[in-house]
Amino acid sequence: MSPYQTVRGMRDFLPQEARRMRTVEHVTRKLAQLFCYDEVITPVVESYELLAAKSGEEIRKRMYAFEDLGGRHIGLRPEFTASVARLIATKMRNTPQPIRLFCVGSLYRYDEPQYGRFREFWQANYELIGSDKPEADAEILILTFELMNQLGLQHHWLKIGHVGIIRGILDQEDIATPKQNTIMQLLDKKQQDQALATVREFGASQTCLTTLKALLATRGKDPSSILDRVEKHVEIYESAINAVQNLREIVALVKESDPTLEMIIEAGFARGLEYYTGMIFEPYVPDLDIALSGGGRYDKLIELFGGESTPAVGVAQGIDRLALATKEQKTTPWLQAKRRVAVIPISEDLRAKTLELALTLRRQGLPVEVEVKGRTVSKALQDSGRKGATHAVLVGTEELKTQQVVLRNMKNRTQDIVKLANLHARILEA
Ligand code: HAM
Repeated sequence: MSPYQTVRGMRDFLPQEARRMRTVEHVTRKLAQLFCYDEVITPVVESYELLAAKSGEEIRKRMYAFEDLGGRHIGLRPEFTASVARLIATKMRNTPQPIRLFCVGSLYRYDEPQYGRFREFWQANYELIGSDKPEADAEILILTFELMNQLGLQHHWLKIGHVGIIRGILDQEDIATPKQNTIMQLLDKKQQDQALATVREFGASQTCLTTLKALLATRGKDPSSILDRVEKHVEIYESAINAVQNLREIVALVKESDPTLEMIIEAGFARGLEYYTGMIFEPYVPDLDIALSGGGRYDKLIELFGGESTPAVGVAQGIDRLALATKEQKTTPWLQAKRRVAVIPISEDLRAKTLELALTLRRQGLPVEVEVKGRTVSKALQDSGRKGATHAVLVGTEELKTQQVVLRNMKNRTQDIVKLANLHARILEA
């Protein structure tokens, strides 16, 4: 056994798993095109300060952070949003808004490895910058729903909340932002009792505690009736009421655009990142008890990096978890060519002709694997079949004299002598 293994939390993707990941990535790229999100490529390494600002305690603690040889304090990106916000505050300052940006790549968090949680993982990230309107939030929700559909996932739903509800209450109770962040982190970790105890410790009123308790128990499928209940609970907290109103508009737009979209509204829902200012959400499927993706509105981050005050909303689709979900539900739309051709020379002197023919077929768009081990035809055929070849082309001296080759259909094990000029068309036939 080699002493060289992957580092804990890091993975190799063997061909089948790599294909599954790339299939999901491919679908996210197609979606970016359909929704007109332009791709940007930002570095894996960013300044620690940029990555740490407003990301939240959990992510800060788990960052791969170190000093480079020049003494700079840097980190491996744990997410894309900070990098995109940096772009908007600097190089894209004068780009007309709204701006829709897409990025895809690997990210790093020193999380405890477990099912669906890795130290290196991939996201497809969509940010919509420059609109504070509910239709922008609705677009991000619709885009996420559409991705689940295009991946063939079944029974998926979106869990939706709004950070303005709880933060609105805590603001009115004069609880400062860093203390609010502590409470939101506890709620994100589903430690509700602990969160309520902390609110009490921070000196909140009894009314506040009663309101929060009621909110934490308010969740359900029918957005309008749930939001009526939430509004009633928060009736004395003005900015919380505004947050409920905002959420009401967003979900109404989404529901009207596609009534099949399943939503669960959860008043006490919080997400780990600190920069959210509005609607937040995560998609789920029944087969996996973890969020497949996550997103929300962040209207204050770009100004924090020195840009104009710019509203923004976005989502990061978790490619690893989406790949797991497609595996669980056996629904992956495989990114696999329908045909795969093996080209095999019958004898050594036909190697050049074989390479030439393979190149011709590839230029006609067919995936072609050439026999390069000098094996007998039967051995080479056996190996090609195992690798999924749909056709084999046997290149022999006799047939070549009349510009012909043998075309074998690997599925039904029939073979035929075919003119070189017709070969491509004949392969496409079956
Ligand atoms: P996040 O919720 O931290 O949000 O991550 C989004 C998704 O990335 C998760 O739902 C999950 O699929 C995937 N993910 C996160 N950590 C891991 C891990 N350790 N292993 C595997 N997958 C993981 C963000 O990153 C925000 N930047 C989303 C956003 C974009 N908000 C606005 N714009």
